[in-house]
Amino acid sequence: MIRARRFAPAVAIAGVAGAALLAIRGPAAPDLTRGASLYAEQCASCHGAALEGQAEWRNPDPDGSLRAPPHDDSGHTWHHGDRLLFDYVRLGGAETLRRMDVGGVVSGMPAFGDILSDAEIRDVLAFIRSSWSPEMRAFQAARTEDEDR
Ligand code: HEC
Repeated sequence: MIRARRFAPAVAIAGVAGAALLAIRGPAAPDLTRGASLYAEQCASCHGAALEGQAEWRNPDPDGSLRAPPHDDSGHTWHHGDRLLFDYVRLGGAETLRRMDVGGVVSGMPAFGDILSDAEIRDVLAFIRSSWSPEMRAFQAARTEDEDR
């Protein structure tokens, strides 16, 4: 009994530390490693292994469809809030643009809703976000806040 009592505080401290760690990491914290490998598997073929986008991405293809833009600072992914980015990946470009009433754009961005879970989409987006400079991140965080208003 004496022994057990002596150990009790240590156990209690370990328990509190464990709970604190869980609170910091949280179940919803994105997994950047998984995001990076999903990006390589699912996105890099069009958006580039180093997030650089397709060559000449600012010029549409001869059929009028847009080319895959970079996801790094040189593109415009950071112009969009989290909700739009999530929808773009889950629903694809055509459906997202249709819902936004944007016409006249042919989007070659496929829908990943049947391929990636919501958590996986968030991980890929977190990986993309992790490539941005602090300025781009701050800009995009403000866009995300605007979306929630
Ligand atoms: C088959 C080629 C292809 C694949 C694979 C692909 N994309 Fe795209 N994506 C495009 C094209 C083309 C566009 C540009 C058209 C548009 O904006 O609607 C685009 C646009 C986007 C956009 C919106 C434009 C912006 O500002 O960044 C996001 C976000 C995006 N892709 C994310 C992803 C993610 C994440 C993956 C992997 C899960 C992925 N894409 C896989 C072709 C692709």
